[in-house]
Formats: sequence, C-alpha cells, structure tokens
Amino acid sequence: MTKSEPTPAKKVFIKTWGCQMNVYDSERMTDVLRPLGYGVTDTPDDADLMVLNTCHIREKAEEKVYSDLGRLREIKETRAEAGLSTTIAVAGCVAQAQGAEIMRRQPAVDLVVGPQAYHQLPELIARAHRASGERLAADFRPNEKFDALPAQRTPSGVTAYLTVQEGCDKFCTFCVVPYTRGGEYSRPVQAILDEAKSLADQGVREVTLLGQNVNAYAGGLANLVRRIAEIPGLDRIRYTTSHPSDMDDELIAAHAEIPELMPFLHLPVQSGSDRILKAMNRRHTAESYVRLIEKIRAARPDIALSGDFIVGFPGESDRDFQATLALMREVTYASAFSFKYSRRPGTPASAMPGQVPEPLKEERLAELNQLLDDQQRAFNTAQTGRTLDVLIERPGRHPGQIAGRSPYLQAVHLDGPESLIGNIVPVRIEAAAKMSLAGILFPPARREGGSARSDETGGPLGHSPTLAALRPVPPDKREGEILA
Ligand code: SAH
Ligand code: SF4
Ligand code: F3S
Repeated sequence: MTKSEPTPAKKVFIKTWGCQMNVYDSERMTDVLRPLGYGVTDTPDDADLMVLNTCHIREKAEEKVYSDLGRLREIKETRAEAGLSTTIAVAGCVAQAQGAEIMRRQPAVDLVVGPQAYHQLPELIARAHRASGERLAADFRPNEKFDALPAQRTPSGVTAYLTVQEGCDKFCTFCVVPYTRGGEYSRPVQAILDEAKSLADQGVREVTLLGQNVNAYAGGLANLVRRIAEIPGLDRIRYTTSHPSDMDDELIAAHAEIPELMPFLHLPVQSGSDRILKAMNRRHTAESYVRLIEKIRAARPDIALSGDFIVGFPGESDRDFQATLALMREVTYASAFSFKYSRRPGTPASAMPGQVPEPLKEERLAELNQLLDDQQRAFNTAQTGRTLDVLIERPGRHPGQIAGRSPYLQAVHLDGPESLIGNIVPVRIEAAAKMSLAGILFPPARREGGSARSDETGGPLGHSPTLAALRPVPPDKREGEILA
C-alpha cells in the first residue's frame, strides 16, 4: 500500500441495552476501536464487527440477547458467502454473568468481553482472527480500564454521559449488578475533570454523571459537582443513580447552592413496605425515605423526583403493595420506572419463599402504573403557561421544529432554527402531553439569544415548588432502552 491510499475503513455495529452506563460504555468502545480504523454503522449488514452490549438486570433483557445473536449469525453467514469476514462480540452484563456459556450456546460468537474489560477489545479481536488464545475477558479491574481509555471523547451531541463511579457494594437481594459490575470504584477527580473538559471543548453543554451508586462517589459527589460546574461551557449537570442511604447533607445542600445542578433527582425506593424493604436489604425504611425527600425539597423546592419500583417481590402481600401505592401518593413523582420482580439466578431473593404468581404481578403493575401516569400528566400539565429554560439538543421531528429538554428533563418541542442547537433558551410552555411538552420561544425577540438565565425567564431558581417531572421512557419499557 502506498502512503496516499486511505486505510481501508472497517465498520462496527453496536447495539446497546440496559442503563445509561451501557450507553457510555458503547461510546467508549467506539473510542477504543477508532484507532484501529473502525467507523460506526447503524446496520449490522455492512458491519465487520458486531457488538451486543447487553443487560442482565431482568430475565427479558437476557432472552433478547440470544434471539438477536441468532439474527447476527445469519448475517455473518450471508457475509461469509460474499467473502466478507465478520466478528461477533458480546459485551456488557450478560457477558460478565454468562461468559463461556454464551460461546457454547451460540458458536458464531467470536469473543466475550465484560464491562470492566472492554479496553482489551483490540487484543481480543486480534486473537479472534488468529483463532487462538483466550477470547473471553471478564476480570474486574476498573482502574486499569479507565486508565487505558483515551482521555479524548467524541461526543455525539450537546449532552453527554460521564461515568464517575462504577459497581455496587449494596447487595439488594433481587439485584445482579454487584455481580456483573463488581465492587464500588470511584474514578480520580482529575481524570473526570479532564474528560469533562474534553466534552466541553467539543460543545457539550450538559453532562450526566453516572454511577451504579453515583452518590457513593468516594471524594464526595457534591465536591465533584462543584468542580465540574466551574468548567466553562458546562451549564447543566445531572447525576444518576443514587441510593437513598448515600444521600448526604452536602449533596442536598449542593442542590440549593449550585445553579448548574439541575432540579431533577432519580432516587429509587423500590417498595413502600418496611417488611419488603428489609427482605430486599435496602438499608432504608419507607419513613426514612419520605423524610429524606422532605429534606431535599426543603433545600430545592422545585426539584422533580423520579424513582424505581418493584412489584411482586417474594412475600409481597396486598397490604405491602398498598403501602407502596401510599408512598407514591405521599411523595408524588414526576415520573418513575416500575418493574415486575424478575427472578435472577444466584441472587438471594430468587430462593426466597412466597414467589408471587405472574398474573398478580401484572395486576399490581397495572395499578401502580395508573397512579404513575396520573402523577406524570399532572406534573406536565402544571408546566403550561410557564417559561422554562430549554437546552436545544436536536432538530425536531417536523421541518422547522427543534427539540430539547427542560431543567426537569422533560422533552420540549418548539418551532425554531437549528442554529439554536446547543443553546439554552427560554420557552413558554403551551401544551403538555404524557411524554413531552410543546412551547414557543419566549420572548420571541430573543430568538437568536444564547444562554438565557434571567429571573424573568423563570430559570431554575425562579420556579415555584412543583411536585414531579417527566422522563421520556414509559414505565416498564426500560428493557432494551435506557434505564436507571
Ligand atoms: N443502582 C440503581 C439501579 C439498579 S438497576 C439502584 O440502586 O437503584 C435499576 C432498577 O432495576 C432497580 O432500581 C430496580 O428497580 C430494578 N431491578 C433490579 N433488579 C431487578 C429484578 N430482579 N427484578 C425487577 N426489577 C429489578
Ligand atoms: Fe442493585 Fe442498586 Fe441495590 Fe446495588 S443498590 S444492589 S445496583 S438495586
Ligand atoms: Fe448492567 Fe446496567 Fe443492566 S449495570 S445489568 S447494563 S442495568
């Protein structure tokens, strides 16, 4: 090959299930693969490398992986007939949990890489091509992974995820995460700041700090948020997912003091029954959770709340379920995610007596979702007539339309020029639906304005107390999409 010839372009197709951290991981995999000449494609048919980044949280999520692998195998065979070689990789939490079994069940899989080992992808791909050597990497060395990832990010828009903490030591009895992500690990502050700066330099305006227990961040999450807020250009900070027992006073105070910290908090409670919370090993009671919410609302009255709920945990009686509904009524959520308990092999709850029959789980889920829907609609409807700061993120669905998010994470659609993408603009909300808001630029004279954050626009600090906010994914639709 002469110098002037371009490197032959290879293509990678990545499909992502599960939580935001998997979305982050998928993006980082493309960063690792870019130096090898891989560009991203969104169709598997022309992909030299196919990656399934999987989620193990509930049974349904896991089943989907195996059905997808069947489809990818067919594509691989078709490509082989055309003389093209294809590598199939399984990454993520199913890879971690089932490693070798995946290769047994689907021999078309060339390599398996766990969430703490994907920086080894180039080496694993090379080994797969040689058809020799270990093709399974599932060790837990998060520090090595983060050290090996390129400091430079390639964000795809004006918002980005940034993993600051990974893993979990809580061992809720229903949950696989401590087994698939390993123990709690916090990245060093400087590495996080460098990554955040790199994002800001490339036009990112909003960063969501990620961790399975993000508020257990070792250096103190409030401190970290304060440091990130100092980075010019980063005007919005969010974090997820938090555990109630790590919600300290400093972090609560940060919600009152740091304007960049958005008034939205995802704080899973799982159940409103103390008996069930104890069996779940949740380390909080319904009462302590409600008191915590009161404290947070005292610090930041307009904060919008989101949560996770599980119905049909082993031993859940009708009274326990009623206690969950009562807690939901008391707290009032802007949105929340609700799940039927899913029995995960190897977790303590899967062996508990009193497993709840499926039809009863369905019934309870429907009742819970009805209440959630009502709360979500009420929260959205309460925004009409108000002016919210909206970060414009992308073109809308229709020509002339643009779309973004309110401080409360609601999707907002409006008419406006695409040149506003990346700007935070005041939008007067005219209509509310269950999943989104529609509005107009306001005041119209400031159309081309950049970041607007004045009192008259009703910026975050200008809001009267509200009870809840909206998230774009309907309850129990999280498998296969973004969650927690
Ligand atoms: N780290 C977060 C999120 C963990 S997974 C936390 O501590 O809350 C996201 C959500 O999935 C959980 O909050 C829980 O509501 C749900 N979940 C986890 N395991 C589950 C299971 N076995 N069955 C049903 N839902 C489950
Ligand atoms: Fe799972 Fe969250 Fe509990 Fe950890 S704290 S075990 S991630 S539900
Ligand atoms: Fe893993 Fe996230 Fe699913 S931690 S099990 S991908 S929810």
